[in-house]
Amino acid sequence: MNPTASVNERIQLIVKGRANESTCSPALAEGPWAFDQGPLGYGPGASSQDEIPLSTPRQGSLPKEYRDATEADLHERIIAAKKTLGERLVILGHFYQREEIVQHADYLGDSFQLARAATEHPEADYIVFCGVHFMAETADILSSDQQKVILPNLAAGCSMADMADIDSVEQCWEQLEEIYGTEPDAAGRQPVIPVTYMNSSAALKAFCGEHGGIVCTSSNASTVLKWAFERGQRVLFFPDQHLGRNTAKQLGIPLEQMPLWAGRRPLGGNTEADLQEAKVILWNGFCSVHKRFTVGQIEKARADYPDVRVIVHPECPMDVVDAADEFGSTDYIRKAVEAATEPTTFAIGTEINMVQRLAAQHPQHNIFCLDPVVCPCSTMYRIHPGYLAWVLENLVAGKVVNQIIVPETVQSNAKIALERMLAAQPS
Ligand code: 13P
Ligand code: SF4
Repeated sequence: MNPTASVNERIQLIVKGRANESTCSPALAEGPWAFDQGPLGYGPGASSQDEIPLSTPRQGSLPKEYRDATEADLHERIIAAKKTLGERLVILGHFYQREEIVQHADYLGDSFQLARAATEHPEADYIVFCGVHFMAETADILSSDQQKVILPNLAAGCSMADMADIDSVEQCWEQLEEIYGTEPDAAGRQPVIPVTYMNSSAALKAFCGEHGGIVCTSSNASTVLKWAFERGQRVLFFPDQHLGRNTAKQLGIPLEQMPLWAGRRPLGGNTEADLQEAKVILWNGFCSVHKRFTVGQIEKARADYPDVRVIVHPECPMDVVDAADEFGSTDYIRKAVEAATEPTTFAIGTEINMVQRLAAQHPQHNIFCLDPVVCPCSTMYRIHPGYLAWVLENLVAGKVVNQIIVPETVQSNAKIALERMLAAQPS
């Protein structure tokens, strides 16, 4: 592997048979427009096998001039459009974006940092979000009414976020209310506090806002769980079971008190007795990128490099987190690498674009992804420079395409839950 190549360049070499490594799908070498017009699905990459809801937004066709343009041409066109738009535009990019996009981002960050950044640019008319749909929704909720948030490819959703829909969560909530009632205990704590991971639809954030709950990201999940336990006897955590379990375990909550709520089955497949004992009820969602990491990969890394430092994201399954040396959010991982003063071997369990970037930025270290197969997040990878050039050149021409608008009825309650998160301080 060439540590300075981008993930896209690695995939192109693999598909041409010029690299001694493998990818989970050769279709990743194509522009996303090749499958945006095909059958509904998350597209090639880690989420390709996940079930996709019929209501998922679809991307219309991308004009031919963008599909046919070379990478170099698109690069120049994006730079020129950015220059013309000046301060009226801010481009936010998540750590998992491909390198060819990250080069153009004014801010690169994790989902918490990017949510903050969306509130800090009142001068910008347009916030172009190079990330996934729930992130753009969050930016729309937190930015001012005059600002327009744009997602370059509407098919950039998140399979994990789609694993919890508002109807199923409301049905779950009704059943929990029947078991626990609705009255606070003697200490004033509510029976259940709903906590949603940032990786969820605006409707679920609004549900949390309306029911005394809160949003968390992977960088503040333990602070948020403590916030919730100050106000509630137990927590309903969705959609990511792994972030919920890993964080609650870190806070000392026994696994027996973390039942899994399996979708639409009565009581989520639990007994009433289990739920009476519960401290954290975990929705059974997961991230298909982080589900690829295994204890076997960690054992191999340790066998190959006895001094290796293994760091994984808390969306990984618990056995993987337990076998690692450390776990933390994308920003935690970035800072851990930046803080290492001695040349170090890092085996990292998170999305390949971020790991590859860290390897390129820190040639003094040996940095590799735990998963040997090149398999990016299917939906993050849908943001291609062709789409970025298209949305920006439309803005230059005075036309807003791919705007993400969260309905007013959802906005206000979702904002309450997000603002509770932004205000929550570590104790
Ligand atoms: P963070 O940026 O919060 O670590 O999230 C990871 C992720 O999966 C975003 O989709
Ligand atoms: Fe969703 Fe996982 Fe992709 Fe993040 S990495 S956008 S959680 S599928």
